[in-house]
Amino acid sequence: MSHTHHTVKHTHVRAPQPTPAQSGIHVAMIMDGNGRWANARGRPRTAGHIAGARVVRKIVEAAPDCGIGMLTLYAFSADNWARPSREVALLMRLFRRYLVAETDRCITNDVRMRIIGRRDRIPSELLRAIKVAEEATRHCTRLDLRIAVDYSSRDALVRAAERLQGQENLSRDELSRAMCQVDHWDGECRDVDLLIRTGGEQRLSDFLLWECAYAELYFTDRRWPDFTPADLESAVKEFHSRERRFGSVPEAAAG
Ligand code: IPE
Ligand code: IPE
Ligand code: MG
Repeated sequence: MSHTHHTVKHTHVRAPQPTPAQSGIHVAMIMDGNGRWANARGRPRTAGHIAGARVVRKIVEAAPDCGIGMLTLYAFSADNWARPSREVALLMRLFRRYLVAETDRCITNDVRMRIIGRRDRIPSELLRAIKVAEEATRHCTRLDLRIAVDYSSRDALVRAAERLQGQENLSRDELSRAMCQVDHWDGECRDVDLLIRTGGEQRLSDFLLWECAYAELYFTDRRWPDFTPADLESAVKEFHSRERRFGSVPEAAAG
């Protein structure tokens, strides 16, 4: 007779330490204003996107020192397919170039890179680059960098609802998980703590609607190509000065 099931000696199990990525805040960014930045300089919109891509690298590098553990960047919405085909084609090339150029840097900086959104409409060369970049950075734990391409929050909700059809007593977490799966995010499903939109518009444009339920919103007129790590720091500082209530009353007023 086997006694192996009586031999467990360690009765208290230590909870796993959270990774740096898990202990930092989740910041989502709508990187808007590239076209207007270029127009103001008498240049084509595409010049704004090229300038904007350079800013992404700087912001990603600055994020961990700002206490950010997850950074979700809105790079291309499902509605952006409606733009002129030349602009769309350039953006797709830029995304691919970014992934190829940044993968090594991400490994060095311990950044896990993941693309969220639909994958059935993007060019196959981009899809290949996505798979390589994700695989190469899969074990990185300092920052979860998620770049949203062909992304629509309402689409994610609809697709998730479709998958869960007929399931009873559905929980919020289960819906969150299904939405993550739809968008190819295999890590922890997190609410957004701080949403930043550059470029002066004050709207969500179908970005992370569900995850932003209690996000602090931060809008700046600064156009994306002009956005700096110092601007990011200011936004995070402002975030920490705000009081989040989640529907409750402030501690001082309670009792
Ligand atoms: C954001 O900048 C980048 C993408 C949507 C890809 P825009 O291209 O929307 O710039 P504006 O809003 O026209 O200035
Ligand atoms: C949202 O910006 C999408 C990205 C920044 C990628 P848009 O420029 O597409 O949004 P609208 O059209 O101004 O709402
Ligand atoms: Mg725009």
